[in-house]
Amino acid sequence: MMDVAVKENPAATGPVHWDPYNQRYFKNPYPVFQRMREEAPIYYNDEFDFYAVSRYDDCVRVLGDREDFISSKGGVIEHMRSGVPIPSGMFIYEDAPLHTFHRGLLTRVFTPRRVRMLEKEIREFCARALDPLVGTGHFDFIEHLGSEMPMRVIGMLLGMPEEDLKEAQRRVDDNMRTIPGQPLQSSGKGFSGEAYSEYVDWRLKHPSDDLISDLLTAEYKDETGELKKLSRDEVLTFISLIFGAGNETTNRLIGWTGKLLAEHPDQRRQINEDRSLIPQAIEEILRYESPGPYVGRTAARDVEFHGVTVPAGMPVLAVVAAGNRDERKFANGEAFDIHRKREAHLTFGFGFHACLGNPLARIEGRIALEELLNRFPEWEVDMANAKMSSTSTVRGWESLPAFVPA
Ligand code: HEM
Repeated sequence: MMDVAVKENPAATGPVHWDPYNQRYFKNPYPVFQRMREEAPIYYNDEFDFYAVSRYDDCVRVLGDREDFISSKGGVIEHMRSGVPIPSGMFIYEDAPLHTFHRGLLTRVFTPRRVRMLEKEIREFCARALDPLVGTGHFDFIEHLGSEMPMRVIGMLLGMPEEDLKEAQRRVDDNMRTIPGQPLQSSGKGFSGEAYSEYVDWRLKHPSDDLISDLLTAEYKDETGELKKLSRDEVLTFISLIFGAGNETTNRLIGWTGKLLAEHPDQRRQINEDRSLIPQAIEEILRYESPGPYVGRTAARDVEFHGVTVPAGMPVLAVVAAGNRDERKFANGEAFDIHRKREAHLTFGFGFHACLGNPLARIEGRIALEELLNRFPEWEVDMANAKMSSTSTVRGWESLPAFVPA
């Protein structure tokens, strides 16, 4: 089954080929994702030696079955291949039982109350960032909001002062960045929480009502029933995980919000007139342009998809950005429609490792959109000067300038 969009696309000839590092696919991977879903639902890339599933149900199977698909070898191809050491506390890359304890501990301190408490501060931050731009005729979704707001929000959550944040973000970015077209360095440097050590040591002596203070004191029972606390290094690793998982991803959500609503001014107008549409608009943006294109696992044993055996030990990528447009789940999945029937998208993953920060990311997206519309009900993006970011793990805009009526 092939539809017109696929036939017309140059990527539609020859055998299906998807290379997550190739900038051509990075810019618009959707035609090839569509071909993967239809022609190669279990896709094998011999250059980088990984398998990928692209249908919604297959992504759910990979992410929902932790017996067959493990996380402890890492989640991106470079890490899974290199056997990079993963420190205790980097629980996105841990399996049960350790993952269960660590995730449970963060769930207990990263509460809905804590997220709600941040709303007012997030709104105030948006006002500070956007007010000076009113009347100038232009702004940049990333420079002025996306690259600042998610980092500051994590700082608010952790109780970290602004001056320490920039430096921490710089270090995280250095470790995540790839040279366009080339894989991520696989030294494991990106997992280190050393950037936050001085601050954590200070917090040890000066506890307050913040996430780091809670992490330093919270206890959990391990599999033997013994009561345990996180070590200082584990707390540092938790912080590194939260920054790594919640910063660039949410930044990209803000960029996609700017891009997609510029391309759909009719839907933007409706949202502006009826603000109760904001939550469903953010869900549709998340579905349509997932900041993380794929989530990786390693096959723990031989597994079968569509008659093909994937050998134990192989990386298997759940291409959530492809699953999010699967027509089997989302009618007219390639269309951006804030009024579509709500079905759960895969942008925050699925199952045991599903994103713990999703309520916060959603609130950030909603507040950002509301505060943007309050000041700029209309905008046009300046695509000639827009730039995509160069990581293979997070897809979106590094700069997205916009013109607004002055
Ligand atoms: C639009 C923004 C975001 C996206 C697209 C996103 C996406 C994801 C995805 C796909 C996973 C699952 C990974 C897997 O199964 O291996 C995940 C896990 C996680 N995310 Fe997010 N995330 C976002 C924002 C955030 C924020 C704001 C935070 C915290 C402040 C956060 C913290 C986490 C943590 C701690 C995990 C690990 C959960 C586990 O392994 O049990 N994320 N995220």
